[in-house]
Amino acid sequence: MNINIFENSELGSQFVAEQIQALIKKKTKLTEEVILGLATGSTPKELYKKLVSMYKAGEISFEQVITFNLDEYHPMSHDSEHSYHHFMNQIFFDAVDIKAENTWIPSGEVEKAQIESHCREYEQQIVDVGGIDLQLLGIGTNGHIGFNEPGSTIDSVTRYVELDEQTRIDAAAAFGGIDNVPRNAISMGIDTILKAKEIVLMAWGSGKAEIIRDCLFGEITAVKPATFLQKHPNVHIVLDREAAALIDVD
Ligand code: F6R
Repeated sequence: MNINIFENSELGSQFVAEQIQALIKKKTKLTEEVILGLATGSTPKELYKKLVSMYKAGEISFEQVITFNLDEYHPMSHDSEHSYHHFMNQIFFDAVDIKAENTWIPSGEVEKAQIESHCREYEQQIVDVGGIDLQLLGIGTNGHIGFNEPGSTIDSVTRYVELDEQTRIDAAAAFGGIDNVPRNAISMGIDTILKAKEIVLMAWGSGKAEIIRDCLFGEITAVKPATFLQKHPNVHIVLDREAAALIDVD
C-alpha cells in the first residue's frame, strides 16, 4: 500500500482532488468515461469542496464522469436531510456539471421485497460501464468500509446490511440521538470495492489512528473489514498527521 501523510486534512484533500483531476484529464483525452466510486460522511467533505472550486475555476469538468456511491441507509427517503442522496446533491452534484443520470446511489426507498434485485442491478450497472476506475473510501472506527461492518466477507457484494452498534453510536449526534439512527442500509460489498482499479482511502484525526494502524498492518480478518484492502494491488492511503500517529512509516 502506498501511504501518504499530510500536515492536515486540507492538504490531504487537495492531493486527492488533484489525483481525480489528473484521472479525468487522462481519460477524457481518450474520450473515455471516468467511473468514480464515491463515499459520504465527514471525511470526503473537504475533497468535494475542492472539486467544486476546481470546477468553478474552469479547471475540471464532470461531464464525462459516472459515479457510484458506496451506500445509503434503508429505509431512507431521498429527500431526507439524513440521506446520502441529499448529502451528495448538496455538497457536490448540484454544484458541478455532472449529468444527474450518471450519478448512482443505492436507494433507501425501494420496497423490502425489491432490495435484492435492486442490489443485483447496482452491481450490474457498475459492470456495464466497465468497472470503477477510482474508489474513494473513508473508514469507520470499527474498521468498516462502505457499510461493510465487522463480519463482512471478502466475497460480499452489494446487499442489505445491518448496521453495527458502533456505527450507530458514531452517527447518533447527526441524527439527534441513537434511537433515530436507522438499523439497516444498502452497501456495496468488499468484493465490489476490491474490483475497483484504484482505491483511495482517506482518514483524518486522532479518532482514526488506532483503526488505521490495525487495518494497514494487522492480520487480514473480517473482524476489521478494511484489512481486506491489503490484498488490493493499487491502494493509496491518505492521512493527516493525527490519523497517522500510531504507524511507523520510515
Ligand atoms: C460513507 C461510508 C462510511 C464512512 C465511514 C467514515 O459512505 O461508506 O464507510 O466512510 O463511516 O465516516 P466519517 O467520514 O464520517 O468518519
